[in-house]
Amino acid sequence: MTEGGTAAGRISFLLSLRAVREFREDPVPQGVIDDVLEVARLSGSASNKQPWELVVIRDRTTLRALAGVEGYADHLAGATLGIVPVMSGGRVEQEAYDEGRLCERIMLAARAHGVGSSIGWFVGGGVPAVKELLGVPQERRVRSAVSLGYPKEGGRRGRGPARKPLSEIVHEERYGR
Ligand SMILES: Cc1cc2nc3c(=O)[nH]c(=O)nc-3n(C[C@H](O)[C@H](O)[C@H](O)COP(=O)(O)O)c2cc1C
Repeated sequence: MTEGGTAAGRISFLLSLRAVREFREDPVPQGVIDDVLEVARLSGSASNKQPWELVVIRDRTTLRALAGVEGYADHLAGATLGIVPVMSGGRVEQEAYDEGRLCERIMLAARAHGVGSSIGWFVGGGVPAVKELLGVPQERRVRSAVSLGYPKEGGRRGRGPARKPLSEIVHEERYGR
C-alpha cells in the first residue's frame, strides 16, 4: 500500500482520531461532505447487505431539535452538519456492528479533511422523536448521529479516562496469558 504517505504517517493519522464535540461556525465544503459520504458508502457490512441510508442535516433548527431529544447527542446543536444513519431495521446484531463501522469511517474521512466529529446516541423517547423530526418510517432503525464541523480551539474533548494499556487487553495465543 502506497497511498497517503508513509505507514508511520497513516498510523499516526489513525491514532489522532478523537471525539470532537465543539465546533467552529465555518461551513464544511461540499467536496469534503462528498468524500465523507463516499467513504461511508464503501463500508463493509454483514453479508454485504449495506443496510443503511444517511440523512445529512445542515439546517440549524433541525440540528438543535435533534440535540434536544432524549439521548447523548447534545453536541449536534453546535455542529455544522449532522449525519444520521437510518438502518433498514433487519438483523439487530449485524446492523449494530455495521452502523459502528459506518460511523467510524465517517469520522475518519472527516478527520482526513481536518473536520472533527463525534458519535451521539438517541435513547428512549429520543428515537421516535428523531424519526418524527426527519420523517423516517417507523420500521427503520435510528440509533445514532455523527456531529461534524471544524474543531473549536480548546473545545470540550474526551469524556472517558485514557485508554487501557495493551498489557490489560491483549492475550497471546490463549485468553488469560
Ligand atoms: C458506540 C458508541 C457510542 C457513543 N455514544 C456517544 C454519545 O452518545 N455521546 C457522545 O458525546 N459520545 C459518544 N461516543 C463517543 C465516546 O464517548 C468516545 O469515543 C470516547 O469517550 C472516547 O473519546 P475520545 O475518542 O475522544 O478519546 C460514543 C462512541 C461509541 C463508539
